[in-house]
Amino acid sequence: MENSNTSNCSTPNTEANTNCCSTTSEIETQSFGNNYAKSSPNFLKSMFGRTDLMPLWIADMDFKVAEPITNELQRLVDRGNFAYEFNANKVFDALVDWNQRRHDLTLKSKSFIQVSGVLTGIGLLIRKLSNEGDGVMVQTPVYHQFFKVIKSANRQVVENPLKMVNGNYEMDFENMELRLKTENVKVILLCNPHNPVGRVWKKQELQKLVVLANKYNVRIISDEIHSDIVYSGSKFNSIASFSDSTQHIAVLGSPAKTFGMQSISNGFLYVPDEDTHKKMKKTIASLYLDHGNALSSYATLAAYSHGGKWLDDTVAYIEETVNWVEVFLQKELSEVKLIRPDGTYQIWLDFSQLNLPPDALSKLIVHNARLALTPGTWFGSNGTQFMRMNIASPLAKIQRAFYQLKRAIGEGVETVIDDSNEESGGSCCC
Ligand SMILES: Cc1ncc(COP(=O)(O)O)c(C=O)c1O
Repeated sequence: MENSNTSNCSTPNTEANTNCCSTTSEIETQSFGNNYAKSSPNFLKSMFGRTDLMPLWIADMDFKVAEPITNELQRLVDRGNFAYEFNANKVFDALVDWNQRRHDLTLKSKSFIQVSGVLTGIGLLIRKLSNEGDGVMVQTPVYHQFFKVIKSANRQVVENPLKMVNGNYEMDFENMELRLKTENVKVILLCNPHNPVGRVWKKQELQKLVVLANKYNVRIISDEIHSDIVYSGSKFNSIASFSDSTQHIAVLGSPAKTFGMQSISNGFLYVPDEDTHKKMKKTIASLYLDHGNALSSYATLAAYSHGGKWLDDTVAYIEETVNWVEVFLQKELSEVKLIRPDGTYQIWLDFSQLNLPPDALSKLIVHNARLALTPGTWFGSNGTQFMRMNIASPLAKIQRAFYQLKRAIGEGVETVIDDSNEESGGSCCC
């Protein structure tokens, strides 16, 4: 992917001229056979009540993956034999190398455990680190599957809402301490970078969190699946860099978000505390969840070994899209505010100036603008005036989405129409 011809994209184009910023690169022109969850008519109908929507909700990419991944998968298919293969250790070495190079983070290969996915890992860790009825703290608005994974383990969700300071989100340490003191919290489930608000937590913020966790003897599970999508000016710091408190920390990641490998990737736990590591490994092995899959392992190896340039280009491209959105909203749609993300390819859009009840806001987005965005209500009660948009798409598509939004808002929110005659509702995976 070339990024060179995206450099002027912060200037919004006229609607008729949305192609000015689109690259001629493969990511723009690639068309895929389509049975993807994000655009599947069945999913759209059950989630949003109609099928004629531009899908910008589930957190995956519209881009073609890095060539080394495709080549490696092709090599395996050509080999034509899929006998047992266990490659986890090689993948752990690649992860150690990747984290050293990309994040200046020194990890130990022996502390990794392979598991089928990040949410599976979180579910297992919560069960191992707490008992039924215990509290698990989350900082809302937060990735909605956290609620499900906590509740289905029969633990209590303890919310510590993020606070908005000067237009950006921060952790509320005062309220956190109060709740750690009073609400039987055994685990803090951290999201770093934070889905959906896009914060990449700073070292000092994480330090404060670790101090509080140590003080109240609470474990931190840090979901770092978005760690590689970080924009210029921000630096990702893993909770694993706090070597003084290894017994409190488990880190989860996967190449899914980084390399657009959602349907073919495994997840990885990083558990430096030896005792917890041993227990987790035993549980995971007893459920045969650590066998992995050769296609996934080889693709992951190829991605971490040779995908760096593709990732740099992709993140730069997405950051240009964020820049374009920011300028567009300032100049052409000031009723909607962008909470500027430090990372992730989600943007968190603030519609509070429209002053609409959540239902009316959803109708405006779906039936008038014809967009499938993730409603902020999914992420907690402080998300009601927000929508999450996935921008890992060609810029021209994101531009179209914003012109649709502008037109819908311009037509007037009192004219919100529901002409679908279909039931909607529910919440999905990603
Ligand atoms: C923060 C976070 N964790 C986990 C997941 C899902 O991970 P997996 O599919 O590996 O369970 C997502 C997907 O959007 C996510 O945003």
